[in-house]
Amino acid sequence: MNYFGPFKMVLLGETYVGKSSLALRFVKGQYYEHGGSTIGAAFFSHTLQIDDDSSMKIELWDTAGQERFHALAPMYYRDAAGSLIIYDITSAASFHRAKLWVTELYQTNNINMVIALVGNKADLAIGEKREVDMREANEYAEVNGLIFMETSAKSGENVHEIFMNIAKKVLLK
Ligand code: GTP
Ligand code: MG
Repeated sequence: MNYFGPFKMVLLGETYVGKSSLALRFVKGQYYEHGGSTIGAAFFSHTLQIDDDSSMKIELWDTAGQERFHALAPMYYRDAAGSLIIYDITSAASFHRAKLWVTELYQTNNINMVIALVGNKADLAIGEKREVDMREANEYAEVNGLIFMETSAKSGENVHEIFMNIAKKVLLK
């Protein structure tokens, strides 16, 4: 049995995009409609089974998206092995904020960090709620060397998959 880690990972993105919901879905397989906005940051530890004979310990920091907490973020992403930049597919403003996070992370000298762009609330894609085109986000991710996926903390879609993708890329570094 190979036991990798612990590796630090961090969730970044505008308030209300679903960072805490993704963390809760990933770590506990649960979802709550009314969780409350994060103050400061929250910490989760989780062991991810990579394959039959390897697992990875992940130390996950769920940051607060409200702008008044922005100054704390570098403490969490500075030495992270992986960063998930989350936006809400029903909010163009949150996608714009996500791009600013990408710029900020590329200004750090943590060149080994694996970065993923994550469009959450994919369960709301039906109807007219979508404000961020999936192809546009995917293209932006490709140009910037980011992993990209749309997820739903509510349904669980792609939540395990996005962490698996990041974990496997971290192990290749
Ligand atoms: P801050 O802590 O303020 O930065 O917000 P956050 O990014 O942690 O958002 P949070 O997880 O608290 O979710 C905000 C709201 O969006 C909550 O009402 C969630 O129930 C809802 N939500 C989160 N993920 C999803 C999702 O995948 N689908 C839908 N429909 N709603 C979601
Ligand atoms: Mg939160």
